[in-house]
Amino acid sequence: MGDTPRVALVTGAAQGIGAEVARVLAGEATIAALDTNAEGLLSLVAELRGKGQRATAWPVSVSDASAVETVVERIEKELGPIHTLVNVAGVLRMNPVVSLSDEDWATTFGVNTNGVFHVSRAVARRMVPRRAGVIVTVGSNAAGTPRMQMAAYAASKAASTMFTKCLGLELAQYGIRCNVVSPGSTDTAMQRGMWKDEHGADAVIAGASETFRVGIPLRRIATPRDIAEAVQFLASDRARHITMHDLCVDGGATLGV
Ligand SMILES: NC(=O)c1ccc[n+]([C@@H]2O[C@H](COP(=O)([O-])OP(=O)(O)OC[C@H]3O[C@@H](n4cnc5c(N)ncnc54)[C@H](O)[C@@H]3O)[C@@H](O)[C@H]2O)c1
Repeated sequence: MGDTPRVALVTGAAQGIGAEVARVLAGEATIAALDTNAEGLLSLVAELRGKGQRATAWPVSVSDASAVETVVERIEKELGPIHTLVNVAGVLRMNPVVSLSDEDWATTFGVNTNGVFHVSRAVARRMVPRRAGVIVTVGSNAAGTPRMQMAAYAASKAASTMFTKCLGLELAQYGIRCNVVSPGSTDTAMQRGMWKDEHGADAVIAGASETFRVGIPLRRIATPRDIAEAVQFLASDRARHITMHDLCVDGGATLGV
């Protein structure tokens, strides 16, 4: 690879898991940090630059196909070829199906599913002629396990998980790998938004029979770092023979299913 650092595009990088993925990858790559939250991006970029690392902010919505195409073009022009794409941007709208609005459904799919398609397509188009690159999509353990009030979210994550595996099949002939990391409950703003009080973490760990959740066998909530390190491994050359894999990082909450 020479001395030029690889370029890693991380979506959803303004906070939570995406910001942690950017921090972990920044040790070995130039980071293109993409999010709708421009303020969060700027503070992440300032943090990374403060450590002598290379990072730039790209305030764009992954739901907007033409804006994504434009920004990917600009990133490659300004930073160089994207070697690593990590799809982390996501939204959670909780509601029972009977109360779910068209807007809840469309927004959830617009980010979690269409967003993964838009960014992966724009990047994959450029990776194919170079016959190099790796894509990791952050899904959810809810993609394979039904959860109360999460129908839109779980369905959108199931779609982006299968999309990423199919992309991996199409791109394998070019040596490009595509994998999924499926987190369980992870300590971020999205997770804390579901906690009812200060005992929220304990309640998630304990589980609840009325919502058919078994709890977390490893007795802890994941840190964003737990997820970021799984992403880092799949994005690295140490995982060079792994593609179309879904790596669940949930402390056993879905019983390894
Ligand atoms: N935290 C958990 O317990 C958990 C569990 C399973 C899966 N996940 C998944 O991990 C990913 C990161 O979640 P998190 O917990 O860090 O959430 P978060 O809400 O803290 O961060 C999500 C980020 O995505 C960004 N984003 C939202 N819509 C966007 C759009 N249209 N374009 C670009 N960026 C957009 C937000 O601005 C935010 O910075 C999500 O895909 C989420 O579904 C999280």
